[in-house]
Parts: sequence; structure tokens; C-alpha cells
Amino acid sequence: MIKILITGAGGQLGSVLTKELQQKFGVQNVIATDLLEKPNFMGHFEQLDATDYKAIEKIVVENKINQIYHLAAILSAKGEENPLKTWDINMKSLFNVLEVSRLYGIDKVFYPSSIAVFGDKIPRENTPQNPNLTPTTVYGISKSSGENWGNYYFEKYGLDVRSLRYPGIIGYQSLPGGGTTDYAVDIYHKAVKKEKFSCFLEKNTVLPMIFMNDAIRATVALMDAPKENISVRTSYNLAGMSFSPKEIFESIKKIYPNFRISYKPDFRQKIASSWPQSINDTNAREDWGWKPAYNLDRMSKIMIQKLEEQYKLATI
Ligand code: SER
Repeated sequence: MIKILITGAGGQLGSVLTKELQQKFGVQNVIATDLLEKPNFMGHFEQLDATDYKAIEKIVVENKINQIYHLAAILSAKGEENPLKTWDINMKSLFNVLEVSRLYGIDKVFYPSSIAVFGDKIPRENTPQNPNLTPTTVYGISKSSGENWGNYYFEKYGLDVRSLRYPGIIGYQSLPGGGTTDYAVDIYHKAVKKEKFSCFLEKNTVLPMIFMNDAIRATVALMDAPKENISVRTSYNLAGMSFSPKEIFESIKKIYPNFRISYKPDFRQKIASSWPQSINDTNAREDWGWKPAYNLDRMSKIMIQKLEEQYKLATI
């Protein structure tokens, strides 16, 4: 029987992935946790500070957990406000998860990484799986170290740690918090609310992005793949689509011709400029059959349709 612990279950990805795993494995078999209380959470929720080893251990033991999805982390933009605290939280929580997994014989661990690991010394187009990683944010440094720690626990202890380098994730179900790619979610909310959008990136800054449905599908596919298929034990490159603020604006304008945008780049521009524009995910395609299903226009259509429904419901 599979018993799952998720950290960061209240976050952008966590809230959607939790529902997916509840559906797949049964609501009672998923223990969703977050630092903040989530009063409206469906299913088994516990407040958990993932930097507290004893607290994690207690949940693992009491619930006979055998899989952990460790999503709690501070993201790229927010992380720069307090670099040492970000490092401390991101790494301490990871070590806690790896250690508890080793000590209690956890079957599988999922650890999300990010396009933030790459830095500006790499080919920015079709970025390969294994370039020289020189991340420019503390978040990126913590993720590239974390990937190597996952690999270390696999090599040294045989712990089945699996990881994806997510592009910016875009979904209607939840809001991102503290990332450099957050603009690509916010822009849809502004469009649906008929407001003008002020973009914190320059109009031609192309970044790799992925629609939430694809991100979830990739996660499930990776975790379902037979162990012998997993050839990358640091973290898999993962591609969905790539676009600039101007291109997403134009895609939205096809549906809302009167939508307007202005550009006021801030400190996040420098972070975005150090990241890839597109990703080579050959390993994911070959090892576990990855193929994204959504492009920009298809995503825009669904985002707008779903957000319109949500805003309508909110006013009833
Ligand atoms: N979306 C994340 C961020 O912008 C990238 O992992 O920080």
C-alpha cells in the first residue's frame, strides 16, 4: 500500500499535485503538509515545518509513510531577500527528507528542481542536460546542490530519489509565490479582470514554461517509471514551451483584443536573463516517454476559460 507525505502542499504545484495523488492513491493515503495552516484543504492535512526533523519523523512513523514528495522551498525572487535564510530553509528541509527516507526505508522520494540551476555560462537555447551549472540565485544554488544530494543518496544508500527541473509553471488552479516566472500566471488574471498588465520583465525575455497539466503529468510519469529506466539521478531537464512576455501578451490578445501591457523590468530581469530560453529534454523523452501536450495558444484558451469561470463564481 502506498502512503504519501507531501511537503509544501499548499504551494502552486503542491496544491494541484496533492489532488492528483489523492485521486490516484486514495484521499486517505496522502498526508498533505505545509508550513501554513490550510483550513479549506480536502483530505488529511497537517501543519508541518519541514526544517524540523522530529516533526517530519513523527508524521512518517505515525502514518507509515513510504513515499515523500518534498515540494517546500523558497523560490528564486523571494529567496534573494534573505540569501542565507533561503539556503538554510531549502537545504535543511531537504536533508531532513533525505535522512528520514534513508532511516525509515522510504521507497521513493520526489524532489523538484528548476531551470534556475543553469546560470549564464550555458547555451541558452536548447540547453543540454549536463552543462556547467553556475546558478545566479541562492534558490538556484540550493536546487543544483539538492540535485547532487539526491544523486548522492541514490548512489550511496540506494534511495530512489527522482527529480525534474521544472520550467515556470502556469496554471489556473493556484497562484505562484516568489518566483521569476510568476508574471506568466499573473498576466492571465489581469486579462480576465480586464485590467492593464505591468510586466516586471522586458518584452523579449524568452523563458521555458510549462502548463500545469503537463507539469503534473510529467511528475506522475517520472514517479511511475520503472526504476531501471531512470538514468538521470540528479534531475531531468523538462520542456513544455518557450515564450516572451510579448508573445504571451499577443496570445491573450487573440481572445481579448483590448488587453494592454506595459513593461517595467525590475531586479527579476537579471535573474531571467541568466536562465535558458529553451530546454533539451531528450533524456526525459527517451527514459520515460515525456512529450508535452500544450503550446502557448492552447494554454491561453484554457487559462482564460477557467479563470473566467472562477471569477464569475467568486462574484455570485
Ligand atoms: N518558477 C520558479 C521561479 O521563478 C523557477 O523554478 O523561481
